[in-house]
Amino acid sequence: MPLSLKQQQHQQQQLNADLPVIHNLPVHDVIQQKVDSISALKWESDQEDAFFVADIGEVYRQHLRWKSQLPRIEPFFAIKSNPDPMVVKLLAAIGLGFDCASKSEIQQVLAEGVEPERIIYANPCKQASFIRYAAQQNVAKMTFDNAEELHKIKLLYPNAEVVLRILTDDSASLCQLGLKFGAPMESVPSLLQTAKDLDLNVVGVSFHVGSGCQDEYAFEDAVLRARKAFDIAESMGFSLSLLDVGGGFPGADVKDGITFEKVAAILGPTVDAHFPPHVRVIAEPGRYFVASAFTICTHVIGRRTVKAENETQYMYYVNDGMYGSFNCILFDHQEVYPRVWSRGGKKYAATLKATEEEEETFTSSIWGPTCDSIDCLATEAKLPVLEDGDWIYWENMGAYTNCAASKFNGFKRSDITYTNTFE
Ligand SMILES: Cc1ncc(COP(=O)(O)O)c(C=O)c1O
Repeated sequence: MPLSLKQQQHQQQQLNADLPVIHNLPVHDVIQQKVDSISALKWESDQEDAFFVADIGEVYRQHLRWKSQLPRIEPFFAIKSNPDPMVVKLLAAIGLGFDCASKSEIQQVLAEGVEPERIIYANPCKQASFIRYAAQQNVAKMTFDNAEELHKIKLLYPNAEVVLRILTDDSASLCQLGLKFGAPMESVPSLLQTAKDLDLNVVGVSFHVGSGCQDEYAFEDAVLRARKAFDIAESMGFSLSLLDVGGGFPGADVKDGITFEKVAAILGPTVDAHFPPHVRVIAEPGRYFVASAFTICTHVIGRRTVKAENETQYMYYVNDGMYGSFNCILFDHQEVYPRVWSRGGKKYAATLKATEEEEETFTSSIWGPTCDSIDCLATEAKLPVLEDGDWIYWENMGAYTNCAASKFNGFKRSDITYTNTFE
């Protein structure tokens, strides 16, 4: 029997109850509301915990930007960069594909109703049981870069659509993935021969120029290598139909140096010049979609004054750190920039009068909350004097941050408040 309108509404309410609230306010207004809601006089625990504000509208703007700059290339979001449920929901709903690295990433994406065809299992060395799971779920596209993997795939998923990941020059990237993955060009013929002998279905070629790529021409060079791999495959009787140009695209935060537009201006025409329209072209961007969408706010929980030779310096301790969301400093080679949000309960910018704009600042270091001295977020920030209870915020904290955070020393991961600034 169909549900009555009332029952439908009830069902919808229950579904929505599981979803976090999404504000419709600018990020700074959400931060202010959160900070205002915390009274230093209250004793409820954890109210001053560090928190993220995630702007789902910013993720959507990045999607529109991609479509306008690289219309031929279909992004498969690299969920490893930020598996935030709201980000994944949005990107699933607007029809993106997903690059998954493990069974649980595949599960998360399938649970959002994404069809298996919209997933590439882009990890060249996969656990056997995960390949079996991919086979059960018909997640057919998967990468390989070695013969052993081909034998494993033959055994566990003989009908898989395998994609050869080739090695590219990633010397201009912050994270050089080629140290671990990618078949050198000279091994391409023998790998393809193995695939042929095993009667596997090789559908395409992929590469990754390295995460945090600083040189747009690295994409051009990689596309040319992929073309060579296609030619070798075609001369051996394969008919490839998929080119996967990987990740490595900069986030929206980059103001100078490499930008997404610079990459698109090289990558788009190079792909068009070397790959006919019947070849489907996909990419695996991670950082690009999420970096600029997340801002984290940390609370000053302690201060030490250091008498240096000619000046007073300060050491500040905040309540998220290197073992938490700021692990990106270590693992992702990211630079993070502290900015003062509030002092003495007042918004920092608002406390400055025009004449005070050149307020005295001091060399300050900022440290996370654990007892480890590696837990340092900034060594030489220039900041005004801060006190316990003041807030410091950090923008562009959406990629490879909370997803890799640990609970070392018993600190919890920072919660996320959502907003949508897309109009
Ligand atoms: C196979 C693969 N694809 C895509 C990505 C995403 O890279 P980025 O966030 O630089 O776009 C990574 C990152 O490690 C990766 O390993």
